[in-house]
Amino acid sequence: MLFVNQRTQNLRQGAIRAMFDRANQMTGVISMGIGEPDMATPKSVSDAGKQALEQGFTHYTPNAGMPALREAVATQSSVREIGYDPEREVIITNGGMGALSLLMAVILNPEDEVLIQDPQWLNYAAQVTYYGGVPVRVPTDAAHNFEMQPEVIERLITPRTKALMINTPNNPTGHVIGQLTLKKISEIACEKNLLVIADEVYNTLLYDGAENRSIAAFPGMKERTVVINSFSKAYAMTGWRIGYAAGPAEIIDKMTICQENFNACANAIGQYAAVYALAHPEEAEALRNVFQERRETALQELETIPGITVVRPNGAFYLFPSIQEFGLSDVEFCDRLLTEQKVVCIPGSAFGTCGAGHIRIAYTIGQDNLREAFRRLGQFCAQICSR
Ligand SMILES: Cc1ncc(COP(=O)(O)O)c(C=O)c1O
Repeated sequence: MLFVNQRTQNLRQGAIRAMFDRANQMTGVISMGIGEPDMATPKSVSDAGKQALEQGFTHYTPNAGMPALREAVATQSSVREIGYDPEREVIITNGGMGALSLLMAVILNPEDEVLIQDPQWLNYAAQVTYYGGVPVRVPTDAAHNFEMQPEVIERLITPRTKALMINTPNNPTGHVIGQLTLKKISEIACEKNLLVIADEVYNTLLYDGAENRSIAAFPGMKERTVVINSFSKAYAMTGWRIGYAAGPAEIIDKMTICQENFNACANAIGQYAAVYALAHPEEAEALRNVFQERRETALQELETIPGITVVRPNGAFYLFPSIQEFGLSDVEFCDRLLTEQKVVCIPGSAFGTCGAGHIRIAYTIGQDNLREAFRRLGQFCAQICSR
């Protein structure tokens, strides 16, 4: 470790990876721990990538991404009604994570505070810390479906607060923030001069009539919001590593310069495939329909297990039920569930202290495995109760 800097030494492997490492050493495991679609990329999208490869489109693209893809993001993606200039306000990145890390690199000064929901996907806090900022937890609770409350956000704002992260639909809870709450949050952001980072990577996966209007569309928000999105979840393209950010030109310009210096551009073949994908939203809709059916199965199965309580989340592919009735911590519960029944779920506390007493279930497996995993979960719960 002699040559590794302090900042990197402080970077830790996340709890989710550690759980996978354990599961990988076992046989017969069913994992409901994985936050990615299990199906292959739709064939037509892969074919578009294949065609690009065969035609020799294997070179660097512009640092901000292929003009055709930036244009497609501005005119065909979920932010089309906001009216982004594809040349100045859109950048194509290495997945949503690539967009987030470029953004953190260009906005954070040392000790700048970034408000982040608790519980939340872990990588935000890791990135903020790595770039010298300070992640500030916004506590939430099950009574409010883990939705950030505007008055709690307001109380946590200090002169050092630079930005607020919003992730809806949410990982780990699957919750979609209501439009009224988004409106109130947008008003606070305007009043307190905050940048809002709107991570919308799950926004094609909506159920029960949930609305996905971006916070960037509220009055006064376009100039203070950076929307992050990606093809990973919507088109089962996690391995292609294509995402994007849309936001104020000065931020996108600096992110582009960063990209030029750090990784040149996003993968070219993936960008061609992504142009096709945006022109074919029916492919994303087909994946959503698969997840909707699985969600029904998962919720029905959970309802048959006494002691587990769950709200019906209306987005993404996660459930976040409470297991508090069983008298085990969420970490013990998941550890024993893996050891005794070979099922992977992720302890809620891995996503923040407010997630304690819950587990994250990803319904990213086929119906048969899903039913078998819930049979095992039911057996595990019954055994705990009978001891
Ligand atoms: C909330 C959230 N944002 C962003 C990402 C990044 O996805 P990708 O980099 O594959 O686009 C993920 C992946 O799990 C996520 O859960």
